[in-house]
Amino acid sequence: MRLWLFHRLYAELAWGYDAVSWMVSLGQWQEWRRAALTYVAGERVVEIGFGTGELLWELGSQGVAVCGIELSPQMHRVAAAKIRRRSLRTPPPAMPLQVRAAIQHLPFASGSVDTLVATFPAEYIGQARTWLELARVLKPPAPGEDVGGRCVVVGISVYVHRGPQHWLRRIPTRRRVRRPAKRRDIDSLTRCSRLAEVARLQTRIEVLEMRTALLPMLIAERVLP
Ligand SMILES: C[S@@+](CC[C@H](N)C(=O)[O-])C[C@H]1O[C@@H](n2cnc3c(N)ncnc32)[C@H](O)[C@@H]1O
Repeated sequence: MRLWLFHRLYAELAWGYDAVSWMVSLGQWQEWRRAALTYVAGERVVEIGFGTGELLWELGSQGVAVCGIELSPQMHRVAAAKIRRRSLRTPPPAMPLQVRAAIQHLPFASGSVDTLVATFPAEYIGQARTWLELARVLKPPAPGEDVGGRCVVVGISVYVHRGPQHWLRRIPTRRRVRRPAKRRDIDSLTRCSRLAEVARLQTRIEVLEMRTALLPMLIAERVLP
């Protein structure tokens, strides 16, 4: 049921995605997303599954040469309207800002991307095929360097530990008694990091302390030529 609703929000209800994400996070969704910005480096940045384009707009406005990949035509329309309305604060980057494609088939040459960003990824992040594709496009280390391109993933899990959401979450429900959310989240993080390692990326998990939440981030880097 939850998954069905998410899919509606990526498609015919895309116009309501920003409002829903604002509500479930009590206004913090964008702040959580922005945690990825610290890890963005290099000349070629790709945001995968950009949704309604908030981060894409922000990256573009900062003059980052960014290309966004998204499959849903409805999300493309919402993002394009938003970007048109706000307009970029800098000249448009050399790469197209929005490209309709599947993450499992990225339209980039092998070893050509410095940073891949995924915030609040959909099920694709738990698929081996995705990680093989992400590893393929990341740049290998330059001569004399230990680390090449990197993928930063935010929002595989969020642990709200303060504020009203925390108290709401403490209300026991049958579902939580069966399987605590925290345990489920740790399982997904570990699974993603294993898949990245199978794709020969080196991974680490960093936990950021936000205002009311702990935000684990998965960093996967290409260290092999
Ligand atoms: C949960 S939303 C996250 C949107 C945004 N990154 C955010 O932080 O709110 C996931 C997005 O990934 C897109 N998506 C899901 N599977 C995809 C795929 N295989 N290829 C490209 N985009 C995909 C969905 O259409 C949706 O917009």
